[in-house]
Amino acid sequence: MKKYQSANFVAGKWETAGTGKFQIVLDKYQGTEMAKVPQATENQMEDAIVAALEAFEVTKKWSAGKRATMMSSLYNKLVERKEEFINLIINEGGKPRSYAINEVDRSLTTLRLAIEEATRFKGEVVPMDWGSGEGKTAFTKRFPVGVVACITPFNFPLNLVMHKVAPALAVGCTTVIKPAPQAPLTCLAFAGLMEEVGYPAGVINVLVCDIPVAEKLVKDNRVAKLSFTGSDKVGWYLKSISGKKKVTLELGGNASVIVDEDVDVESITDTIAKGAYLYAGQICISTQRIFVHENVFERFQSAFIQSIKKLKVGNAQESEVLVGPVIDKGHLNRINDWVKEAKDKGAKILLGGMIKSDKHNLYEPTLITNTNGTMKVVSEEVFGPVAVLESVKSFEGAIKMTNDSKYGLQAGVFTNSFKNYKLATEELEVGGVIMNNIPGFRIDHMPYGGIKDSGLGREGLRYAMEEMTEGRLIVY
Ligand code: SIN
Repeated sequence: MKKYQSANFVAGKWETAGTGKFQIVLDKYQGTEMAKVPQATENQMEDAIVAALEAFEVTKKWSAGKRATMMSSLYNKLVERKEEFINLIINEGGKPRSYAINEVDRSLTTLRLAIEEATRFKGEVVPMDWGSGEGKTAFTKRFPVGVVACITPFNFPLNLVMHKVAPALAVGCTTVIKPAPQAPLTCLAFAGLMEEVGYPAGVINVLVCDIPVAEKLVKDNRVAKLSFTGSDKVGWYLKSISGKKKVTLELGGNASVIVDEDVDVESITDTIAKGAYLYAGQICISTQRIFVHENVFERFQSAFIQSIKKLKVGNAQESEVLVGPVIDKGHLNRINDWVKEAKDKGAKILLGGMIKSDKHNLYEPTLITNTNGTMKVVSEEVFGPVAVLESVKSFEGAIKMTNDSKYGLQAGVFTNSFKNYKLATEELEVGGVIMNNIPGFRIDHMPYGGIKDSGLGREGLRYAMEEMTEGRLIVY
């Protein structure tokens, strides 16, 4: 058994003791036990915070060159162990093989960006030579804030950890991480890589723990920053108890795609089908609402249904499968309940609408129409293989429907009209407008994050580095 299958990583040590309770980690398709990790105690959380504070006294003095060199060793180690991480992500995350490979590749890119950014990150020159500033020079230099509390979700157990750890390492911060209980092994294994390449004890701590222990981390005034990715309900609550620390929240969404009347609809339905159902829709920027101009609606609908039918549902280990299991039984049943609620309120199921395999937690790719905002499949984040498709009379109407949401993460817009391109970029209330592509499009250097209930602040390497540093003004 590997260390990360039975221990937390606290202050540079693998701790097999805990509260006496354990987090059982299941293979999400087979339902078999992969590991049993102890729930960390409050004392262990205290040890982790103290170790991270002590380690920060070391890392804050490292040159940018040293930080980049250390991260390069980590990069090489991850390349060597790529296969192990791919399998962890498939098994504990239920992520289809091709998408798990993509996640490890993206994580390497995220780390490479951090290596590059570490040595070119800079403040700014502040013009002073006027009024009472005449003759003076000023600039800002950015300093790391200190210990970063990271709370990470199950759906990208490596890359969304990397989006917190890599910028922290690039600027000299240290981390205490609470990984998602359903899929903590990838993060623990990553801490193991950092240990192997010689990061000092306390630079990374990973603790599987229950809510009161996690809240201790969030409330602690010695911790300088909270970086959370997860549900909007939990994220905004944590912000409310986080005191004076800086906070980044990457939360949920019900992302929409708009299809204009001038689009060759048959050429885009495969892409939108993947955008809605890949990894059983368990992506914050998965396509959930599709608004299609009435002049091309019939054509879109029939091509889209054919595209969905081509997606293979099943065992995440198989290369051709794109729709694997939902993360757990609770979510499987919730998704089913939400679809039933829509049906009871008058929606029409165009495809799917049922649990496909209770044993393997599979839900049928589901397409619904005749919906309205009172239905959870429209107004809440489904985080499942469910999308709604509606006809709209105008492009402006589709923008209005997209904005009629508490969320605002990313939106995808297919149009050939420059007027509508401009309208979309100006009017959509989201953190990112993706033209002629799905809202799920993301490259890891992009500023990524939402407005409204979808979050606060931005990730994407340089943007996260800014959020993990303070600019200090120097005048002379
Ligand atoms: C997310 O689900 O929040 C991240 C999506 C991505 O990185 O592709």
